[in-house]
Amino acid sequence: MTKRDFGENFNWGVSTAAYQIEGAYMDDGKGLSIWDQFVRKKGKILNNENANISADFYNRFEGDLALMKAMGIPNFRFSISWSRIFPEGTGKINSRGVDFYNRLIDTCLEYNIQPWITLYHWDLPLALEKQGGWTNRAIILWFEEYVSFCIRNFGDRVRNWMVLNEPMVFTGAGYFLGVHAPGRKRLSNFFPAAHHAALCQAEGGRVIRSERNGMNVGTTFSYTHIEPYSKRLKDISSAARIDTLVNRTFIEPLLGLGYPTKDFKSLSPIEKYMKEGDDKKLQFDMDFIGLQSYTREIIKHSYITPILKAKLVTASQRNVEHTNMNWEVYPESIYHCLKRMSQYPNIARLIITENGASYSDLEVNGEIRDETRKAYLEKHMNQVLRAKKEGVNVGGYFVWSFIDNFEWAEGYRPRFGLVHIDYLTQKRTIKYSGKWFKNFLKNSPY
Ligand code: BGC
Repeated sequence: MTKRDFGENFNWGVSTAAYQIEGAYMDDGKGLSIWDQFVRKKGKILNNENANISADFYNRFEGDLALMKAMGIPNFRFSISWSRIFPEGTGKINSRGVDFYNRLIDTCLEYNIQPWITLYHWDLPLALEKQGGWTNRAIILWFEEYVSFCIRNFGDRVRNWMVLNEPMVFTGAGYFLGVHAPGRKRLSNFFPAAHHAALCQAEGGRVIRSERNGMNVGTTFSYTHIEPYSKRLKDISSAARIDTLVNRTFIEPLLGLGYPTKDFKSLSPIEKYMKEGDDKKLQFDMDFIGLQSYTREIIKHSYITPILKAKLVTASQRNVEHTNMNWEVYPESIYHCLKRMSQYPNIARLIITENGASYSDLEVNGEIRDETRKAYLEKHMNQVLRAKKEGVNVGGYFVWSFIDNFEWAEGYRPRFGLVHIDYLTQKRTIKYSGKWFKNFLKNSPY
């Protein structure tokens, strides 16, 4: 497999997110986000860690982009921290925050790196959460104001935009399970949050398109290949329920198919939050759909799990190869996800906006020999190529992640980067996988 096999116009890149790398959580007029608040609560994050400093990308972005350039990476996906620009979420603008993103974008362009910007990667301004956050329908207006500001100010230099990062994860983990910010539980929070996120995903697209011509508009979804634990009918229907919930809830209304309540009845209460005309408002014709796919999940029936009546049989329970997130290494999953997504009519183009693996990378004599990550990436890229050769319109692959970073509730233990961060000294070291990717991008074997 060489880069050439993927064709000339294939977008190769790396992905990150503001909260996970920037640090500088209170600097230069930034307002707090729900994550800044959530990490303060005891017991929410492994070892009670936080991303107040993280990889300090806010202060070190120039050096990091120079490294990216030296690695020959042509596309950089990052997100904007909403509360750096609007400290209160709406209204007054923080010009120093705007200035940071201007410098970041300009430096990317100077280095011939195309910015791909995610507008929302989970760090809602805390001021908005205090007014209900995603459960308040007013979020549509707040979000419109924020998106339109970004497109007006950055759209002259940035063509590639993603509206949301994985709405199922931030509404599910943040408003139902309570394991991510803002830490709310209960379906009565999840349903309105999910519906408003689905509305914002389409509305964000409309705002981008109406503000400027020529934008490449997309949004991203977590997408996991799901299989039943056995051929028992109960396991098969449990797996189908989970698949409907996690893989279909947000993409189908966007495509005009509505919420998949027929296949998962417990999702029906979401319709209670629909207002007249919402079925149209949920739709938008994206230029591309970003898929973020990491693993396969095996689902078994469970009487004791309320509503879902299903449970995950983890990779370690099954004794199969896995990363240190306990995610099975199963490269075919990305192929199945691409094939299945491509069966929906009306999807213009697919892009793998995240794929990667976390291992505990040990530094030995100044080197990080992460052969397992290199093997993971190579095998997954091969499966992307397999789908492409079979006619799937997949136009890009972004590694998660460029540098090691703060992995949400898991803290700093999982390391996903092509570049190692020593959090004590902030020293950057390109890992073996990073060197391999660099050589791959040069079109030469390593
Ligand atoms: C998210 C990232 C996260 C990665 C690995 C994705 O769900 O978009 O923020 O770090 O997966 O868990």
